[in-house]
Amino acid sequence: MLDLKRQYQAIHKELLDALGQVLETQQFILGEHVAAFERGAAEQLGVRHVLGCSSGTDALWLALASAGIGPGMSVVTTPFSFFASVSCILRAGATPVLADIDPVTFNLSPTAVETVLNGPRGKGVRAVLPVHLYGHCADFSFFSGLGREQRLTIIEDAAQAWGAEWNGVKAGGLGDVAAFSFYPTKNLSAAGDAGLVTTNSDETAERVKMLRQHGMRRRYHHDEVGWNARMDDFQGAVLSVKLKYIGAWNEARRSVAARYHALFAKAGLAETGTYPAHGVVLPREMPGARHVWHQYVIRAPRRDVLREFLTSRKIGSEIYYPIPLHLQEALKGLGYAEGDFPEAERAAREVLALPIFPELRDDEQQTVVGAIAEFLS
Ligand SMILES: Cc1ncc(COP(=O)(O)O)c(C=O)c1O
Repeated sequence: MLDLKRQYQAIHKELLDALGQVLETQQFILGEHVAAFERGAAEQLGVRHVLGCSSGTDALWLALASAGIGPGMSVVTTPFSFFASVSCILRAGATPVLADIDPVTFNLSPTAVETVLNGPRGKGVRAVLPVHLYGHCADFSFFSGLGREQRLTIIEDAAQAWGAEWNGVKAGGLGDVAAFSFYPTKNLSAAGDAGLVTTNSDETAERVKMLRQHGMRRRYHHDEVGWNARMDDFQGAVLSVKLKYIGAWNEARRSVAARYHALFAKAGLAETGTYPAHGVVLPREMPGARHVWHQYVIRAPRRDVLREFLTSRKIGSEIYYPIPLHLQEALKGLGYAEGDFPEAERAAREVLALPIFPELRDDEQQTVVGAIAEFLS
């Protein structure tokens, strides 16, 4: 699915130098390497404030807590994402309210959100948390307007979307506050756990700074109950090095995606409908969006059997995500049942992520598509 060693081989000298510099300073937490990364990231994303933290999960919690989301409030989000998109809302003390996805982009559906806001669970909703799934921005023509018109805080889960854009604005600067993850499989990745909060609001940024260090504005004076959500300098140093390359890496991912499109079309496997019949449905880039292809996700008939076939050929594939969040054991308490989000449930049965990373070779992609063609024939 992903060969991180190819990336490491290309930049290992720079990485080792950067890690050595951290050791020279003996400043390991929120030191100068984290600060340098924050400056570089702010410039690249075009946002006013960028605050490093310990993981994408913590970044989501910091985003919610700094925006004042807490007990007695509800937050609308998607049932088709990584668990943290919902668990962070519970961790903030608020109630997650789910809305179904758009079957083409797999992102939160504007019409479903509107229906939910006008329904019984819509009362008490203070924020909406769209996820830019697979590296494709959620529909921010809708979400920006919704935030303004209904005075809702818009919180981006941009964990999978470094460099993605909506109408020329980068993820991280679309909503009121955003969270990124640098988990090692992400487009921009740390050498361990790390995350980031971005915002254009001075007030929110000041609260994130306070909350990521146990609610301290002054040393050992705790104004609020925050948490230890600090970024360490080894991660800051690694991320600063990779920040120089991420633009080119995302371009390379776009080429890999274009190559998959061409190969599937040439093999006569690409179908035009929303759901697969005999061939596969390819992922799309919507007008206004710039996709960064964190994942290349097709819809396939007999998905699980296809996946077994690919595994038998030693071809990696993955299912993001096999169980929608409303059907997770840990989230039973939200009171949803099977059938509540038919698009998310169908996606969970049909999606298959194929190998994609900047260094993936042409011949490897041909092998992947060739194997799928063989299976479907
Ligand atoms: C959509 C989404 N949200 C949140 C997270 C949580 O990030 P992390 O694993 O860095 O805590 C991830 C990554 O795993 C993710 O993909």
